[in-house]
Amino acid sequence: MTTIALIGCQWGDEGKGKITDYLADKFDIIARYQGGSNAGHTVIFGGKKFKFHHLPSGIVHEDKLAVIGNGVVVDYEILKEEIDDLKRSGYFCNNLRISDRAHLVMPYHKLLDELEEKSRKRKIGTTKRGIGPCYTSKVERSGVRACDLFNCFAVNVDGILASINRRIKSFDGTKIERKEFLEYCDTARKILEPYVCDTSRLLNDAIDNEKKVLLEGAQGTLLDLDHGTYPFVTSSNTTAGNAATGAGIGPNKIDKVVGVSKAYTTRVGEGPMVTEIKDEVGKHLLEKGMEYGTTTGRPRRCGYLDLVILRYAQRINGLNAIALTKIDVLEGLRKVKVCVAYEKDGKEIRELPPHMEGYKPVYEDLEGWERSYEDGLTGEVMEYIDFIEKETKVPISMVSYGGSREKTEMLKELV
Ligand code: GDP
Ligand code: IMO
Ligand code: MG
Repeated sequence: MTTIALIGCQWGDEGKGKITDYLADKFDIIARYQGGSNAGHTVIFGGKKFKFHHLPSGIVHEDKLAVIGNGVVVDYEILKEEIDDLKRSGYFCNNLRISDRAHLVMPYHKLLDELEEKSRKRKIGTTKRGIGPCYTSKVERSGVRACDLFNCFAVNVDGILASINRRIKSFDGTKIERKEFLEYCDTARKILEPYVCDTSRLLNDAIDNEKKVLLEGAQGTLLDLDHGTYPFVTSSNTTAGNAATGAGIGPNKIDKVVGVSKAYTTRVGEGPMVTEIKDEVGKHLLEKGMEYGTTTGRPRRCGYLDLVILRYAQRINGLNAIALTKIDVLEGLRKVKVCVAYEKDGKEIRELPPHMEGYKPVYEDLEGWERSYEDGLTGEVMEYIDFIEKETKVPISMVSYGGSREKTEMLKELV
């Protein structure tokens, strides 16, 4: 019996897609439980690269079910594009299931994301995928769920339109008409119909029948609405506690929490980042790591590994293990710095503060390396791993030293 929640430890893009794809072999179901098409998860195998925004990275494992849970916000337009793309590559997505309780990202949510971001003096740098405005509708209780498309009597169309038009009007945008709204719903229903079911029932039955479930997180701990670098965060809870709610299973059904962390740090979008560097090493990480956003193509901000963040990710998520990725990107650096604490006004702290602004990193220098892998991980890489394990008190169970499936070393068994 194993249900694992896979969580991003940093600001997203840690390599969750790659790790999910690698682990998928050992599971029966791969399920997303939060976020939406703001995610961009890369999977590389057999010389092919796939970028998943909406679909769980397990979708290409056609003998497994790929589930979009109730906590995800579903953009039927992007989902259709992704499914059509996959069909052209020979994957027919018959293994896809979407929660009847999942909220829908409507075209007006994407419009509002644009308008809101444009009006902000202090930008968040959102992906403009309508994520924040859609979760706002959900919390405001004027959202549209997948199940609502099949029971039009249950939908308070006037209430939804009144709410959304109030929001659009405050930006002088064009009002959404009833006919237009009903057309969106009709299109969404046609696209989603083959996939919609009670995924909570499905997951619970599977777990009761000793099937293995991998819960694939999107974004990362510091983008969590409660625990991240607010307000520069996404609009969902990205951390382990929400894996249960967003999938519709009890928390006691999750056996292990695995955090995915890059061997350094990146961030895309606005907000504080203590270890950000703009020198030659920063350029090395950007270029060698090919750190350009999977969803928006923006260059990611780069810096050294921040253990204050990893210790925090351990605390918030209760990590049982870490999967460390992109260790190969550090190859060629003479020294590798690791941030062990923050400093401000001569005072050192080891815990992540609620405001990171104004803090400077306290570094320790470790030896660099030329090669990460030669019939096994090399000595310097193992020293780097030992250092992280000692500082975080979390075992590093997996190491990734390249984007493709094969370039993965299992140090300790997870499943
Ligand atoms: P995710 O959002 O957490 O799934 O991560 P992304 O897919 O957005 O970004 C990770 C990027 O790093 C992708 O381009 C991956 O192909 C790539 N990647 C993943 N693991 C490794 C690794 O170990 N080494 C290298 N060089 N690239 C990796
Ligand atoms: P994956 O799953 C990295 C960031 C955006 C922005 C903030 C809010 O690929 O790791 P949003 O559109 O969610 O309202 O934007 O969150 N962001 C991500 N950064 N990886 C992601 O997903 C992200 N999803 C959102 O850049 O700063
Ligand atoms: Mg990504």
